[in-house]
Amino acid sequence: MITTSSAITTAGRNRITTTFYHHGFTKPAAYFLIILLSYYLGYLSALSKNPSYNPHHHYTTTNITTDIDHYNFQTHCADPVPPELIRQTILNRIFNGSSPYQDFPQAHIKPLLRHKWIKGWGSTGLVFKNLINKVQPKTIIEIGTFLGASAIHMAELTHQLGLQTQILCIDDFRGWPGLPNRFQDIKMINGDTMLLYQFMQNVVSVNASESVVFLPFSTGWALEKLCEWGVFGDLIEIDAGHDFHSAWSDINRAYKLLRPGGILFGHDYFTVADNRGVRRAVNMFARVNGFRVKADGQHWVLNSI
Ligand SMILES: C[S@@+](CC[C@H](N)C(=O)[O-])C[C@H]1O[C@@H](n2cnc3c(N)ncnc32)[C@H](O)[C@@H]1O
Repeated sequence: MITTSSAITTAGRNRITTTFYHHGFTKPAAYFLIILLSYYLGYLSALSKNPSYNPHHHYTTTNITTDIDHYNFQTHCADPVPPELIRQTILNRIFNGSSPYQDFPQAHIKPLLRHKWIKGWGSTGLVFKNLINKVQPKTIIEIGTFLGASAIHMAELTHQLGLQTQILCIDDFRGWPGLPNRFQDIKMINGDTMLLYQFMQNVVSVNASESVVFLPFSTGWALEKLCEWGVFGDLIEIDAGHDFHSAWSDINRAYKLLRPGGILFGHDYFTVADNRGVRRAVNMFARVNGFRVKADGQHWVLNSI
């Protein structure tokens, strides 16, 4: 519309107004017609300057060069920390060097917890035994832990095999909106669910606090930091957000943390969550990176082609 003012000058406007006036239009009607004409000329001038402009077309800001941004994740992680130093690295980086289980549960927390309350989904599937037997992992990273059912199962399996495995559990321990309605055993205080504490209590109740440590943050933050600190896993399990974008981001970030010869796997390839995006994200990752997806129960496992 900036062009409108140049399309009709003030002198020109006065001349046209007078012409309309002499043809029997009232002054306000003449002014109204002038304004209408100005807009119309401005519109034509915009079209002539940008002939490809189509007001009915839905323009998008995406183009071929920005599309590849979806595939760009952190590429360079720090040199690997030796497996036997991984637990202390996590304690130093997150818990000021001491164990978060120290003096747990404190007197004010204890009445809010059940002695042991473990619940999960597909958390003891055969896939865990199959992969632990195969990889004999020194470090397992679990992305999405909830009450610790699958982490505790893996701790038991590695213990039975006599392995000194450290299991790192990543979860913000917020669950999802509405969690306290569905699981009334998880207390909520001032809007804060006791999920983290009940998970810790479950770990303590099975004597697994030496082999299970946790990173109570969003998966994005935790995975980025593990990469920055050089903490890698032999076995990485993904079971956090089940929408496509969460799963896609977790899989890509987790893959950077896999030791050579390690295995990436996850839940919800064959469950009701299928169409929320996990399967699409897994298949897309496999396609882009040249992997084959193998199903094991409800789980997916990535294998080299
Ligand atoms: C399905 S549960 C995990 C169940 C567990 N693997 C088992 O089998 O016992 C999913 C967990 O992912 C966590 N979660 C979801 N999105 C997350 C995110 N963006 N960051 C951190 N945790 C997340 C939730 O808090 C929830 O505890």
